[in-house]
Amino acid sequence: MFILNNEIARLIVLQRIELIGPILKRLRKILGRSIFTNFLSKYFLNSKQIGKNYHKIMTEEFERVKKSISDKDKNILSIGSGVGGFEVILNNHFKNLKFYFIEKNYISKKVVYSWDSNNKEAYNNLDLQKQFLIRNGINDINIYDFDKNNLPVIEYDLIISLFSLDYHYDFYLYLDYFKKVFTPNTKLIFDTIRPNHFDTIFNKIEVLNTFDQTVHKSKRLMCSGLKI
Ligand SMILES: C[S@@+](CC[C@H](N)C(=O)[O-])C[C@H]1O[C@@H](n2cnc3c(N)ncnc32)[C@H](O)[C@@H]1O
Repeated sequence: MFILNNEIARLIVLQRIELIGPILKRLRKILGRSIFTNFLSKYFLNSKQIGKNYHKIMTEEFERVKKSISDKDKNILSIGSGVGGFEVILNNHFKNLKFYFIEKNYISKKVVYSWDSNNKEAYNNLDLQKQFLIRNGINDINIYDFDKNNLPVIEYDLIISLFSLDYHYDFYLYLDYFKKVFTPNTKLIFDTIRPNHFDTIFNKIEVLNTFDQTVHKSKRLMCSGLKI
């Protein structure tokens, strides 16, 4: 169970739309995505239930990738983590992790969840994200706003981006940054709708999972050895 308030619960359902119950799902269909994003998601949520269900799906995400994470992975970068439930669970299973987050600091007027060529769609609030992480036990937090162009140059052991990089927006937005922060051992785990595309970019690619039931069909890859 995560500790959260209504404002944070609202962010979570925008980030993980599968968490809205059947009634809201129906209303979203009837009344439209703008009304859902700006009104229904603010006032008609059961935050306790959302906290419980979010914990459950983030635990499932952790179970899917845990075999690929080692005790040696210390510097962790999360790209598009949402409020960071996955990272809280990771933090509960491993010791002395240092977390870096890159996210966006606004909520789009109408959340569509399509491929976003201009990368304008976002659903986060970095103050609320920080609040969520502290309340749930992550204290060493470094959060960076993607739009501010001040990303930290750190040698990461693990970079993780669940249903964000190359799922909603182009991998190439981050390629120049990756060139600065990848070591020969850095592992990148992300969900992509075009898995074969990465043969020319990484030396080593492993398919961790296949998702057929999500908004877009995708594969979760673990890549290392940046070639270019
Ligand atoms: C579908 S949500 C996934 C959230 C979380 N990873 C999860 O699995 O619950 C996608 C997230 O990517 C964020 N995002 C959009 N563009 C981004 C960018 N250029 N860099 C980092 N995050 C971005 C959005 O704000 C949103 O929180």
